[in-house]
Amino acid sequence: MKIMLTGMMGVGKTAVGKKLAERMNISFIDLDEHIEKKACLKVYEIFSQFGESHFRQMERQACKEISRVNDVVIATGGRTLLDKKNLSVLASSGIIITLLCSPEKILRRIKNDRGKRPMIASNSKEAFFRIYREREPEYLKLPNKLDVTHLKPEDVVEEIMKLINGEEKRFEMIAGEKRTSSLICRGIIDDIGAFLKNIYQDKKAFILSDKNVFSLYGKRLTSGLHKADIEDDVFLLQPGEKQKNLAVVKKIYAWLQEKNATRSSLFISFGGGVVSDIGGFVASTFHRGMKLVNIPTTLLSQVDASIGGKNAVNLNEAKNQIGTFYFPEHVIIDSLFLTTLTHKQMQEGLIEALKAGVIADKDLFLLIKNHVPELMLKDLRLLEQVITRAVKVKSSAVTQDPYEKNTRASLNLGHTFGHALEGSYKYSHLSHGQAVGLGMICASKLGLLLNLTSEDFLPEFKEVLTRMKAPTKIKNMNASRILSLMQFDKKRKKGKISFIVPKKVGETLIIKDVNEKHILESLKEISHG
Ligand SMILES: NC(=O)c1ccc[n+]([C@@H]2O[C@H](COP(=O)([O-])OP(=O)(O)OC[C@H]3O[C@@H](n4cnc5c(N)ncnc54)[C@H](O)[C@@H]3O)[C@@H](O)[C@H]2O)c1
Repeated sequence: MKIMLTGMMGVGKTAVGKKLAERMNISFIDLDEHIEKKACLKVYEIFSQFGESHFRQMERQACKEISRVNDVVIATGGRTLLDKKNLSVLASSGIIITLLCSPEKILRRIKNDRGKRPMIASNSKEAFFRIYREREPEYLKLPNKLDVTHLKPEDVVEEIMKLINGEEKRFEMIAGEKRTSSLICRGIIDDIGAFLKNIYQDKKAFILSDKNVFSLYGKRLTSGLHKADIEDDVFLLQPGEKQKNLAVVKKIYAWLQEKNATRSSLFISFGGGVVSDIGGFVASTFHRGMKLVNIPTTLLSQVDASIGGKNAVNLNEAKNQIGTFYFPEHVIIDSLFLTTLTHKQMQEGLIEALKAGVIADKDLFLLIKNHVPELMLKDLRLLEQVITRAVKVKSSAVTQDPYEKNTRASLNLGHTFGHALEGSYKYSHLSHGQAVGLGMICASKLGLLLNLTSEDFLPEFKEVLTRMKAPTKIKNMNASRILSLMQFDKKRKKGKISFIVPKKVGETLIIKDVNEKHILESLKEISHG
């Protein structure tokens, strides 16, 4: 685990960082000291001899270096993470914790440091307050904020430990005879064996994962299992949508057969939506069904793909053509996995969560709309609120209509357009999450054309996507190819495709008999010319 402390100069990053590292039994790096060691000069000497821009360059280089280090607490410099480049390098490598403190308290703490702190070298009290006021709004956009004004360093450490450990939440989803229990719990991976041992008697788990996920978290998963005397056998996929095909499925069957897996064996899908889609299909069909546990590691799979029991692989360019309904027994959600996702992967997950808000939870929609920067930077408490609400929306739709005979179809909002878009770009250039975002724009436009969607929905929806820097238009769109791929939509009945359109935030409608002219007109809404 990597924890990066940020905050204004003098908030106590170094003092807290040292104590936190000791408490977690991991190492500690003070970024300024790291730079000083390399330069053989103190920070204020680098400033006075070479200027601030030279120091900032050294700081950027140092950020790249520490982004590759693990199991460490890092006290960053006061301005390190206010630099967009540093932030984007570090935001996908660990947890950022922002310490906030009143200016009066900071001033009391740093009053003897003037010579050593170049940013306050010139220094009147007024100058410090001015700097504070200028920077404060930037810190407020950073994630995982803790007000430390009235806390001693050891109390701050306790607050950080609470943040890392989080609170446990459980949900049940019932599909006919089958009950899926979803557990949201930070850090559970290290004790996963004990958790599973309480439920299953298995001495072995068959794990499907992808190479990225396993290189990041594989050791923790397997040592968590070994601690409870559960052995593992692992099949690793290449990452990406292109793996969702029958040839890959066949290889996994052969592996299970060679390893003597049976119907009563435990199968764990450990990864994003691609892994849970392939894993769910394999687990449901091998020996007519193995015990399935999903451990989703992307936001998209935590809020959507790993729950709900649908799985599938693609057939040529047509999306999710071969699949089953097969409900996992447990879905284990740990938001700490999200700390290593890229900006784009976070964006994809937030779009699926936003979809859940549009379908049935206005407060979820507003939560995302009002906190995009902190969510993208992985504010753990906000993310868990988003995950919890999205899981509730999906669980309730699935419990009501597990096999998608009618109401569950609302979960496919944006998917008829989205899947066809993905296929038309041959599953490159456009990720699933981005395609769903664009698909929801088309579905809203369709609703507008048919006077079903409220006028203010689409501008508001696009504004949230823009805040996430998600695409709202796409180049080189082949509308006739998209139209022909829509013929593979699984909601098609008697040759007619049905569409889900939003009425307003929190409410959707299913419409049938849409004419081609309206579909093409809706696609124009996302075409970049
Ligand atoms: N069955 C359903 O109900 C359902 C619902 C929504 C989406 N889906 C499917 O889900 C798939 C998309 O899922 P996805 O976006 O999770 O894709 P994905 O599984 O391809 O993961 C995206 C990328 O993130 C990497 N990754 C995963 N966890 C990581 C982590 N913790 N840190 C760093 N990198 C990590 C993966 O290696 C991969 O490169 C699509 O195939 C879509 O059709 C299914």
